[in-house]
Formats: sequence, structure tokens, C-alpha cells
Amino acid sequence: MTQTADLFTLTLSDFQETRARIAEHIKHTPLLTSRQLSELSGFDVRLKAELFQRVGSYKIRGPLNKFALMPEEQKRRGVVCSSAGNHAQGVALAAKIHGIRAVVCMATNATPSKIAATKAYGAEVVLHGNIWDEANEKAKELVRTEGLTYVHPFDDEQLIAGQGTLGLEIVQDWPDVDAVVVPIGGGGLIAGVSMAVKGHNPKIRVIGVESSDGPAMKRSVEAGKLETIDCRTIIDGLRVRRAGELNFSVVQRFVDEIVALPDRDIFDAMLWVMERCKLVVEGAAAAPVAALLHGLVRLPAGSRVAVVLSGGNLNLDQLRGLSWN
Ligand SMILES: Cc1ncc(COP(=O)(O)O)c(C=O)c1O
Repeated sequence: MTQTADLFTLTLSDFQETRARIAEHIKHTPLLTSRQLSELSGFDVRLKAELFQRVGSYKIRGPLNKFALMPEEQKRRGVVCSSAGNHAQGVALAAKIHGIRAVVCMATNATPSKIAATKAYGAEVVLHGNIWDEANEKAKELVRTEGLTYVHPFDDEQLIAGQGTLGLEIVQDWPDVDAVVVPIGGGGLIAGVSMAVKGHNPKIRVIGVESSDGPAMKRSVEAGKLETIDCRTIIDGLRVRRAGELNFSVVQRFVDEIVALPDRDIFDAMLWVMERCKLVVEGAAAAPVAALLHGLVRLPAGSRVAVVLSGGNLNLDQLRGLSWN
């Protein structure tokens, strides 16, 4: 493992060690067959059902790894993050498992159910500001004033290693998989998954999916440098103005292609998965399915394709047509 973003690379054995480190606290989520998606796409499709993970998304994997490796003295002081979504819940439960104090900063308009869920996992919630950036400033302040360790939502080596264990499980369960389709927000998930699956077989094609209403990673890859974009997607999980530095470097070297489609198509795919597959997925998790349904994944007929259903934490109020995750 190296420290500079340009060279940051994890090997298959790094992921195997990480998986062993966190194994007792996570579920090995299933790869489900989907006849309908297979027929519609012409591929052999399996769904990595990470919506069944503890806390309802892959977001507990990274923090569990980070805390397992954290020096005792840092653990005693505690950790802080800013998120109103899956990262908050992942950090909260992972910290509880490791006996660490966790503070989660959220904007004052955070959804009450998300505040309650984060508190229920044992974290202290601090409400500050009106948007994530302001909540994040508060988190940084707590790093300075209380000596807490900041846990980044996606751009962190140990976090990426943990999230990538999801990719390791895919190749363990389906060693001859041809392609993996993964949603992209800040890029932590795809960074880990791409290195894990290519560590198993460099020929596995890795395809990322973003909302075209906020394609921060795609834009950066096209520009050849990290770009800050005007992000309009309302799908939380996919909503970032700037992808992570480490993740951008990994994506440049390990990801074959990024496709993007509008929020509306992703929302329709979310309903499609619920209706046809009987699985509750959130918007970010439906993005890879949307890419398949819209023919954006171009592979030889019959290819073995794993689709990452990254989480299922959907606010049901939003399903009633008001807005959505
Ligand atoms: C369910 C879900 N899927 C995908 C993503 C995107 O992951 P990343 O930011 O690591 O690219 C997130 C991020 O929060 C998420 O919550």
C-alpha cells in the first residue's frame, strides 16, 4: 500500500486481509439471479444484494476496517463525521462495535428518521447549518477542539479497502464474472471494488454509473483532472460536487468506463427493481440497473454481469412522489 494518490493501489491479498479483519461484524451478502434483468439485457445478470447488509448499505464495511486499525489513543478520543445518510449509520454502528465515541454532524434540516436511526446506533448527533458543507465545517471544528478523528465518507485508504471487500465477495461467489456495474458518488465504493475484482482477474470489466445531473467523476476523467461541478442530482449517495482524490486516481487506472443517465431514469429503475425483483433499493443502488435497462452497458451477449445494489435506505415519504433519495 502506498500513500500518494497517484500510486495508491490495493492487492487481492490486501482485500482478503481486510475481509478477515471485519468478517465477524458484517454479512456476506448474496448474489441473486434476476431472470427478468437477464432476459431484458441479454446478459447473465446477478445482483449483489448489499441492501441486506447491516445498516442497510455497504457503508459499514469501510469504517469497521478503519476502526479495527485505529491506534488505541485515537480510539479513546473518538471519531466524527458529517453525513445525513448511509455514512452516518455506518460510522455510528462500526464505532459502537469498537467501543468508540462517535459524533455525527448533520444539517439542521436532516430527515428526522435519519437522525433517529443514527442516534439509535449510539452516535451523538450535532445539528449545524443548512447544508452539508456547513455541517462538515462543524465536524472539522470538533477535530480541532475535541481531538476527534475525522472519518471521510469516501476518500480514505482504509475506508476504500473496507468497501472493496464487497467486490472480493463477488469474485469469491462468481469467479468467472465478466463485468461489474457499480454506482459512483465520491468514488470510494468503485475504487475498492475495481481494485478487488481486477486483483482477481484484470480482464473483468468495471463500469461505473453516475447521474447525468451530477457526473463529478465522469467529468473529471474526461478532463484528465479532478473537476468541481455544479451538481443537481437529488439522489443522495450520488450527490457530490467533487470526487475523492484517491478515488479519482484509482478510477483512472482501474475503471473501464463510466456511464451516466438522468435522475428520472434512475428513479424509474428503482421502482422497476421493487416491482419486478421485490427488493427495496434506494436511488443510488438503482443506478446500475437503470444503466442496464437503458442499454448503456455494452458487452457481448451472454456476458456474466454483477450489478451492485449498494443500499436500501429509502425514505418512504419520498416514494410518494414528493422527492426521493
Ligand atoms: C447506497 C449508496 N450507493 C452508492 C454510493 C456511492 O458511493 P461512493 O460515494 O463511495 O462513490 C453511496 C454513497 O453514499 C450510497 O450511500
